[in-house]
Amino acid sequence: GTARITIDPGFALGTVDPRLYGTFVEHMGRCVYTGIYEPGHESADEYGFRGDVSRLVRELGTGLVRYPGGNFVSGYHWEDGVGPAADRPRRLDLAWRSIETNQVGTDEFLGWARRQGVEPMMAVNLGTRGIDAARALVEYCNIPGGTAWSDMRVKNGTRDPHAVRLWCLGNEMDGPWQTGHTTATEYGRLAAEAGKAMHQVDPSIELVACGSSNADMPTFGEWERQVLHETYDEVDYLSLHAYYEETGGDRASFLASGAQMDGYISDIVSTADHVRAVRRSHKRIRLSFDEWNVWYQSRFPGERALPLEETPRLIEDTYSVTDAAVVGSLLITLLRHADRVAVACLAQLVNVIGPIRSEPGGPSWRQTTFHPFALTARHAHGTVLRTEVSGPLIETEKHGPVPALDTVSTLNEETGELTVLAVNRDQTGPLGLRAALRGLGKPYRVVEHLVIADEDPDAANTQAEPERVVPRPVAGTSVSAEDELEAVLPPVSWSVIRLA
Ligand code: AHR
Repeated sequence: GTARITIDPGFALGTVDPRLYGTFVEHMGRCVYTGIYEPGHESADEYGFRGDVSRLVRELGTGLVRYPGGNFVSGYHWEDGVGPAADRPRRLDLAWRSIETNQVGTDEFLGWARRQGVEPMMAVNLGTRGIDAARALVEYCNIPGGTAWSDMRVKNGTRDPHAVRLWCLGNEMDGPWQTGHTTATEYGRLAAEAGKAMHQVDPSIELVACGSSNADMPTFGEWERQVLHETYDEVDYLSLHAYYEETGGDRASFLASGAQMDGYISDIVSTADHVRAVRRSHKRIRLSFDEWNVWYQSRFPGERALPLEETPRLIEDTYSVTDAAVVGSLLITLLRHADRVAVACLAQLVNVIGPIRSEPGGPSWRQTTFHPFALTARHAHGTVLRTEVSGPLIETEKHGPVPALDTVSTLNEETGELTVLAVNRDQTGPLGLRAALRGLGKPYRVVEHLVIADEDPDAANTQAEPERVVPRPVAGTSVSAEDELEAVLPPVSWSVIRLA
């Protein structure tokens, strides 16, 4: 079949915020230790961070990194992770039943983020701690000096403030698994008061309130309404989290995961705007989709089944071509909501369901999912254009009929570059794409068409074969004399088509 779209700069939706290309570093498994940080590694820099991983993080093009959790943050004493490394305690982390050595903490992470050129997004512990620890951390990070906590940062070796702008008020506080899990009203009150104190320290910071852990939570919808009712004036963003996996061999539904994400975002926008209406507020809450990915969660034994270890191998999922198509499609969905979704974090960055894998004392490599993320982050900039698809539909058990083509376009006004991202969800055959180019003011030609596809949709990159799946150029994609882009998308594939 063939799917048709119209690309017209008159259909502007919003501007791409580089914070949409965020990722996440949690003190979990091997994300920090032997992930970004491994002092003994041959590539390690003077701070003990891995140079090879650092280079891949740069290539990935992530604009923002969330830290230090995740469920981890709900039991974390940030003071354990600052000051002389030799004096730092070994703690039992309740979230993942691991031993946390605290060799990496706030100053090490924020120093790494600065050297990487990424914006940090910090989370405070509203599980076992509260207002006082949160406001002390903001003071430690953001006040230049002359107060106890800021002077401690200077004494610990960081003279200039870290100037962290974006802060999460806890993590997944609606989840019964969360240390310090609470009700929406209790959490909302605590978040509002912690947020107030944090703003009293630094009025320039932006705050994210916890939404639901996922759209299947029994309190979904009501949680958001009650939390926003309590926090509306203090916060800027509400969080969303979602993980997708193929279940029961239902690949068609899995490939259509973007449809679920799309509805989830729309529901939260409606809920936030309902609270806005009730409060007669002029402010509009934006969304922070600060955990999203493919995660084979059904393979995880649960944290209580884990042996108490230091740096355990946790949820090191190996991703396939199919997973890469889904990740690419989820990014397309996020871009299609760029008017309300301001922040998004692929969870996580290295080893722990990460697009990057690394072995202790060994190599690092790109998973299949690395490629759609890196190419989207590199090329989808400027204005997001609304695109309506007409074309073949695929029946799915979980999401009903969905278009075989999932797509979005961006127009970079500065460079004139037009980027079309496209997923063919069809497993049975190729899909033709016809895009009418209108109102662009000049003729466009194809610069390149790269695709992630394979005869084996389960093909993956491994330590033994790290380049098994890479983006490959597609020949024959062109713009006709009638200004129509014509391309063929292989089955189960993700494409970036660049025009200029
Ligand atoms: O990313 C893994 C975990 O998933 C995070 O710690 C938690 O916030 C979510 O449940």
